[in-house]
Amino acid sequence: MKQAVISGTGLYTPSQSISNDELVESFNSFVNSYNQEHQADIEAGTVEALAESSSAFIEKASGIKSRYVMDKAGILDPARMKPFLAERSNDEPSIQCEMAIEAAKEALAQAGKTVDDVDAVIVACSNLQRAYPAMAVEVQTALGINGFAYDMNVACSSATFGIQAAVNAVQTGTAGCVLMLNPEICSGHLNFRDRDSHFIFGDACTAVIVEDAETATSEHQYKILGTKLQTVFSNNIRNNAGFLNRCDESGLGKTDKLFVQNGRKVFKEVCPMVAKQITAHLEELELAADNLKRMWLHQANLSMNQLIAKRVLGRPAEVEEAPVILDTYANTSSAGSVIAYHLYKSDIKAGDIGVICSFGAGYSIGSVIIEKL
Ligand code: COA
Repeated sequence: MKQAVISGTGLYTPSQSISNDELVESFNSFVNSYNQEHQADIEAGTVEALAESSSAFIEKASGIKSRYVMDKAGILDPARMKPFLAERSNDEPSIQCEMAIEAAKEALAQAGKTVDDVDAVIVACSNLQRAYPAMAVEVQTALGINGFAYDMNVACSSATFGIQAAVNAVQTGTAGCVLMLNPEICSGHLNFRDRDSHFIFGDACTAVIVEDAETATSEHQYKILGTKLQTVFSNNIRNNAGFLNRCDESGLGKTDKLFVQNGRKVFKEVCPMVAKQITAHLEELELAADNLKRMWLHQANLSMNQLIAKRVLGRPAEVEEAPVILDTYANTSSAGSVIAYHLYKSDIKAGDIGVICSFGAGYSIGSVIIEKL
């Protein structure tokens, strides 16, 4: 069987960002207007007053200070509170395609590859802009890549599942070089009127090149020692938006057509599962936690990552052992662990071992154990 390596990564970061203070100011303005508008009902006890959000809570509860977004003005307008992303005509590139192209260019350059070297494109993310044609086919054609392309969705774990799909393709010879992309417009499925979650997500796109070790020439080669995936059904992170929504008018406007979660339960249930999976995966590869130089973890919550790292290592992790990007990017769904890997891999030395690990809705957990060549 062929050996697969990661030979390049890329990152597209939107040009606009929103600080916690800006987000909270807009949210609190909406809350005050709502409470004024419903004052009589609130006083009569028939409507519950909304509570204000706070930057201090957001940073303490999540570690998030800021997030990048595709459209700041629409999100911060208290009368709108969602990004304004105009629908494109069929003749224009879609937004996710544009994001993906930017990330892909960087990954290809890092891998020392041209589009002629790529045989397959996978777009793996939480939310796809349309049902079909596949976003990946649009990206493939826009870049001028031959071969085949397809989309997949495993929510926040889409990237690690996408890497496994790419590894399988390389190992079995169905593709020699795969471009795997994670264009996440999380601001489009976040309920900015929900105090419990309005601060959680940001937008970004990542790209990973997985290829046959025999063709790899990049300085940034990481041998994929193994991939391990796990899924267990849970309703604790859910988004019911889908094409059947238009078949049932009673569902229109319901908040379950955006991201909803039971954050406390997610925290409690997912942390032990993730730590257990990384430990088991290391054991399967006859490695110990001491062998791990770095953990590029999914970026949803700082305390979650600290807890997972501590359980795996048996001691609190140093900051450089489990790099944090969620302070500036927030949760970018599937892109998070790849952003951490992209930004915090240059100091890794030959022979060092690390794990890229994602977790999220499903529940879904994916770990990719790699060794710097
Ligand atoms: N501003 C101020 N206070 C807020 C607030 C806000 N925006 N949102 C909630 N609070 C309040 C709550 O009302 C609650 O008050 P109470 O104690 O008086 O009842 C208190 O803060 C604690 O709320 P809670 O929801 O229990 O906070 P938490 O410490 O669990 O943190 C999350 C919330 C979501 C940050 C945290 O649970 C988390 O990150 N979970 C994992 C999420 C995750 O990984 N999801 C995957 C997504 S793909």
